[in-house]
Amino acid sequence: MSWAIEAAGLRKVFGEKVAVADLSLRVAAGEVFGFLGPNGAGKTTAMKMLLGLVRPTSGRGRVLGHPVGSRESRRWVGFLPEHFRFHDWMTGRELLDFHGRLHGLAAAARAERIADLLAEVDLTDAADRPLQTYSKGMQQRLGLAQALIHRPRLVFLDEPTSGLDPLGRILVRDLALRLRDEGVTVFFNSHILGDVEAICDRVAFLKRGRIVHETSLRDGFAPELHLTLDAVSAEIASGLGAFGKVLRTTEREIWLRLAAEADVPQVVRWLVERDAAVRGVQAQRPSLETLFLETMGPDERAG
Ligand SMILES: Nc1ncnc2c1ncn2[C@@H]1O[C@H](COP(=O)(O)OP(=O)(O)O)[C@@H](O)[C@H]1O
Ligand SMILES: [Mg+2]
Repeated sequence: MSWAIEAAGLRKVFGEKVAVADLSLRVAAGEVFGFLGPNGAGKTTAMKMLLGLVRPTSGRGRVLGHPVGSRESRRWVGFLPEHFRFHDWMTGRELLDFHGRLHGLAAAARAERIADLLAEVDLTDAADRPLQTYSKGMQQRLGLAQALIHRPRLVFLDEPTSGLDPLGRILVRDLALRLRDEGVTVFFNSHILGDVEAICDRVAFLKRGRIVHETSLRDGFAPELHLTLDAVSAEIASGLGAFGKVLRTTEREIWLRLAAEADVPQVVRWLVERDAAVRGVQAQRPSLETLFLETMGPDERAG
């Protein structure tokens, strides 16, 4: 397995404040990875440590195979900051050209790349207007183009969809999926669960500076099993508890969290052996919102 990001015990303390207690994770090359947590959980600080913009208090990490903080680790990395700021007297095209030059792209390559990116983020018509005339959504989209100018292999996006209207959010989602198709790794901070659910292969939940849960959104997830029977007896409810966590019961229905989808047939067999009249069986991936609330506790709702 080739890792785009490896972190072991990265920690950042500001004075008395522990912003990131322990960041230990691995992100595979080509993965779209969602980093979830309420405001103040430490998402931005964690990302900035990986980018070499914040010096860790302790711990180690590698980005694209190079030590965190090193020049080589940043070479093929793109970054869209949470609050993208720039010279607002520049036009969109000038800003991208400026960033292209910083990355050492030749003039002809820059012009072509900029035209493609402007089209991709739907800013071709606004390209020669000063940035001060751009809406928040347009600025965010230009920020995305900026992050991609040098064809990075790993892109860090800090809350890329917050403050965007629905069309802007769809554009960001589509772009993230296209990047994945091109084999680019995307590391994505967010507290907007719907966007994460639409884009990410895998997510980690950050709570008070620590990863408390990691899960795939593509496969191997722990399904929620919804069973409809003629009647749910106390014996059946407690017996099913051996297969997973009973989430809820009514007179005729029972919801069960299983460890793996592969356990579904066993549950059905067990019920049939007990002559339970099974009317319905539905296994589905729990929503990210359910996972978030289970993981974080009701005191830490998504922003
Ligand atoms: N430069 C800083 N100095 C002091 N405290 C900071 C600094 N940056 C972040 N923090 C604190 O660290 C915690 C995590 O912040 P942050 O990484 O921005 O979280 P998130 O991005 O998840 O909202 C917060 O309590 C924040 O106030
Ligand atoms: Mg943040």
